[in-house]
This record gives sequence, C-alpha cells and structure tokens, in this order.
Amino acid sequence: MTRKLEPGRIVVASHNAGKVREITALLGPHGMAPVSAKDLDLPEPEETGTSFEANALIKAVSAADMSGLPALADDSGLEVPALGGRPGVYTADWAERQWFEGEKGRDWYMAMGKVEGLLAEQGPGVDRSAAFVCTLCVAWPDGFTMSFEGRAEGTLVWPPRGVAGFGYDPVFMPHGQEMTFAQMAPEAKHAISHRAQAFAKLVEALF
Ligand code: IMP
Repeated sequence: MTRKLEPGRIVVASHNAGKVREITALLGPHGMAPVSAKDLDLPEPEETGTSFEANALIKAVSAADMSGLPALADDSGLEVPALGGRPGVYTADWAERQWFEGEKGRDWYMAMGKVEGLLAEQGPGVDRSAAFVCTLCVAWPDGFTMSFEGRAEGTLVWPPRGVAGFGYDPVFMPHGQEMTFAQMAPEAKHAISHRAQAFAKLVEALF
C-alpha cells in the first residue's frame, strides 16, 4: 500500500536544528509547510528500537499522534560488517563522554578511534568496508506509515582526513572516490549520501 503526501503542514520529528533545516529545504518545493517537533513543543520519545527503521518509526508515529498532522522522522548511523554491524543504532552513543562532572558531550575523534581500535584488534587483513545508512519514515495520524532507506557504501580509512561535514565523515571514503566525506565539498557529499538517497526515494514515492 502506498499513499501520496497532500500539500500542507508536516511535522519534522527532530529536535536537531540542522536536520530540520535540511529537511525543510527538501520538502518546501513540494508544497509542504514543515514545522518542527520542537516548535510544537512535542516531547522527544525514547529511541528504544534495534534498527534505524524502528527508531525512525517511533519518532514519526509519536509526532503524528500528538500533532494530528503527518510527520517525518529519520534515523541514521554507521554499519561496519567486521564489527557485526556495530555501531549501528548506537552510532551517536559511541561518541558520548563525560567531559566533567554532570556535563555530557560528544567526541567524534574518540568514537572514530573506538571503531579503528576494534578493527585493529582483528589484524591487518580485516575487512574495512562500512556503510552509512539513513531511514526516513512518514507517519499519518490514522496510523499509516511508509519507510525509505538510503545507503552509502565505502571504506574506513585511518588516520581521519578532512575537516568538513560531521560525525564519522573524516574516516569514511565512499566507493568510487579518492576522498573522505570530510574532504569533499558539501554539495558533492549531498549528491551521493545515504540521506540524499533515502530522500530521493521518498520524493519519488510521495509526490
Ligand atoms: P541520529 O540519526 O541523529 O540518531 O544520529 C546518527 C549518528 O550517525 C550521527 O550522530 C552521526 O554520528 C552518524 N552519522 C549519520 N549520518 C552521518 C553522516 O553523513 N556523516 C557522518 N556521520 C553520520
């Protein structure tokens, strides 16, 4: 079963300002008027799923229920086959550290180092392939949902290279490129990223 998105308001079920901006820019040309979950004061549900799709669904369904509007959520992360698919849904958690008492922050270099350390334990012949995955879910107030997955396949390099982008970008070299995501111009990354591919599928199906 499929469904189209009628022009009108849609909740972007994220409290991350960068994501809301990116999604707003993508939906605007299709007659949608995105409003963020934060603007509507919606609570952030706990992401208890064990897959990207499950977590995106939790966020989209909760926002649609609470607002009475269609809602869009995403979940993304890095999958490393040699690590059994980790860090997966825990990609952001691997960067979490205590900077000083009571203060939590994210340290991406520590997270990249953790992945590299686990690969190094397996010796020089280890499979260094990895994929960034993004799942987008749209939920309607009547409970209907649709999901779209995008993947960017690549190789993990060490040491990290480049300063653009965010998260694990400096160690991820997409297939067919000589540069990491963090060495590429933002437009070049956005043309091939997991998020762009998931969005292309969503736009094709819903508009
Ligand atoms: P979430 O989707 O907000 O739960 O976060 C997923 C985590 O995956 C982010 O905090 C990043 O660490 C990582 N991630 C997702 N997409 C990218 C990307 O395009 N580049 C680098 N890291 C990413």
